[in-house]
Amino acid sequence: MGQTITEKILDDHLVDGELTPGEEIGIDIDQVLTQDTTGTMVWLQFEALDMDEVQTELAAQYCDHQTYQFDFKNTDDHRFLRSAAGTYGAYFSRPGNGICHQVHKENFAAPGKTLLGSDSHTPTPGGLGQFAIGAGGLDIAVAMGGGAYYVEMPEIVNVHLEGELPEWATAKDIALHLLGELTVKGGVGKVFEYTGPGAESLTIPERTTITNLGTELGATSSIFPTDEKTKSWLARQGREDEYVELQPDDDAEYAEEITVNLDELEPLIACPSMPDKVVPVSEVAGTEVEQTIIGSCTNGAYEDILPAAKMLEGREVAKHTEMIIAPGSKQASEMLAREGWTSELMAAGVNFSEATCGACIGIGHVPASDSVSLRTFNRNFEGRTGIEDDSVYLCSPEVATAAAIKGEIVDPRDLADELDDLEAPGLEMGTTYTDGMGQDDADIITPEEAIDDELIKGPNIGDVPLRDGIDSEVAGEALLKMEDNITTDHIIPATADILKFRSNIDKLSDFTLSRIDDTFADRAREADGGVLVAGENYGQGSSREHAALCPMYLGIEAVFAQSFARIHKANLFNFGIVPLEIDAETYDRIDQGDDLDILEDVDAAVRAGQEEFQVSVNGDWEFSATLDASDRELDILAAGGKLSWTKRQHQSD
Ligand code: F3S
Repeated sequence: MGQTITEKILDDHLVDGELTPGEEIGIDIDQVLTQDTTGTMVWLQFEALDMDEVQTELAAQYCDHQTYQFDFKNTDDHRFLRSAAGTYGAYFSRPGNGICHQVHKENFAAPGKTLLGSDSHTPTPGGLGQFAIGAGGLDIAVAMGGGAYYVEMPEIVNVHLEGELPEWATAKDIALHLLGELTVKGGVGKVFEYTGPGAESLTIPERTTITNLGTELGATSSIFPTDEKTKSWLARQGREDEYVELQPDDDAEYAEEITVNLDELEPLIACPSMPDKVVPVSEVAGTEVEQTIIGSCTNGAYEDILPAAKMLEGREVAKHTEMIIAPGSKQASEMLAREGWTSELMAAGVNFSEATCGACIGIGHVPASDSVSLRTFNRNFEGRTGIEDDSVYLCSPEVATAAAIKGEIVDPRDLADELDDLEAPGLEMGTTYTDGMGQDDADIITPEEAIDDELIKGPNIGDVPLRDGIDSEVAGEALLKMEDNITTDHIIPATADILKFRSNIDKLSDFTLSRIDDTFADRAREADGGVLVAGENYGQGSSREHAALCPMYLGIEAVFAQSFARIHKANLFNFGIVPLEIDAETYDRIDQGDDLDILEDVDAAVRAGQEEFQVSVNGDWEFSATLDASDRELDILAAGGKLSWTKRQHQSD
């Protein structure tokens, strides 16, 4: 039988299991990436594993989330990361050089290779034919140590793109269309493989916008075939020799087929505060806009910013609207500057941010209270901007720029009618681009250029907490009952004042679930632990392992949820917290404050591979909860988490 692209790459890298959907497989990892908010813990874990050097073909450490240096903490962290990269043999991308997914795409992403990254948007280079997955930091540390990465073999969905995008509709609209149709849970346990003439018509930056937003569908990964466009894009980066032809076989079989006719797409927008609340732009036209931001890892390439520059040529941003360009990489900024577009944008009233995640996680450019912000990002979860009453819409650069010109949300087709000299910008490659931008990147320190050979730990770098095993008795108060779609942002907010403690778990855990209940950490400490209860899709969003690490540190031993997001569930296993699934009726009956007592010897039951657990509530009634885990995950739980498990494995080797 023929194979899909995903099956071909996985087959090449398979070290354990079979490619049967739902079965756990182990794959060899070629490349890893990590960023600054997750990276400090990755390297502390790597150090705890007693490894001498990185074992993967390539490891890259980026500094992108927390590049602003408010005090010594972020600077110390960046120095620690540089020292870890130098000590263990990884590439180091300096703060300000850009967002990990953009910079990795430009410098290292290669078709046919596997990439594991401690950031949920790691699948971005799928647009170049790389099979890339986001994972928790501990999984990255283990992969860097040469360990296989384990994941449930996903179902492979074929998204067949017919036709071509009409004027003013963009790759972002393809992704938003899918989000509107499938929702933020529609991709769980799946890989989206894009094919068809519509896929061929898209440029590499357009493809990577779509693969980036696959994460919002909950997908394990997303991937495109490779072709002449992939080859010439790699050539522009000076890496043509890394091109590999990748196409699905003619008789490849997919679990599901989705057809999107690009000719029928129109400009779309995701309304506050979920990426799947998608409507045509015309439905919300007229809404006053105080801020627009173009950039992030989703739409931060040169080709994403260029349409804004062309639309603004000879025009101005509306007086009551602020417009910011947040480039995804310094390469994008440099390109805009070399080609004269930076001055055009500045003359139109646009401000430039350095190439950083920044505003995407509430670090800088926080909108005014009770105001509307249009962003080309991938997430608009409530409070992510840094204020609770934010109102963020997600859209294409064209829609964001149209809103900046008009001062209100407007369908760019209507604005073009109104202004009659406003043309659809299309894409235009820069002249400098063809000369191989991205080679000799001054902001990347290669392992050969490393300036450190030992770790430099400032006062904000703490120890890695370890859980040594799992308790026989797991019982405690349901300290918090949460709704559906709780994100890792809810569990550990990613704002600047909180994330600066990412390497100091004792301090960071004070903020655990504080956005839902600011007494939570104190109550958990007072109760000496307890359990959590949640609805569907618990832990969606970023790969932040602190969202499992901090609850573990506070003594949380089990989470009862209707369902779990993939990366977060893996993180719960990795930190020795038991993730138990419950049905809707049970969820409805449990109240916050109830005493939940698992009526089994949990340690023995986990070791025996028991799936069903009886749980007593206040001694009054009982329910059954399911532990859906592979043998390997059960071993990890029994060891108290993946760090203890991996250390034991190394010791027994
Ligand atoms: Fe950064 Fe936001 Fe992307 S935090 S990695 S720009 S999703």
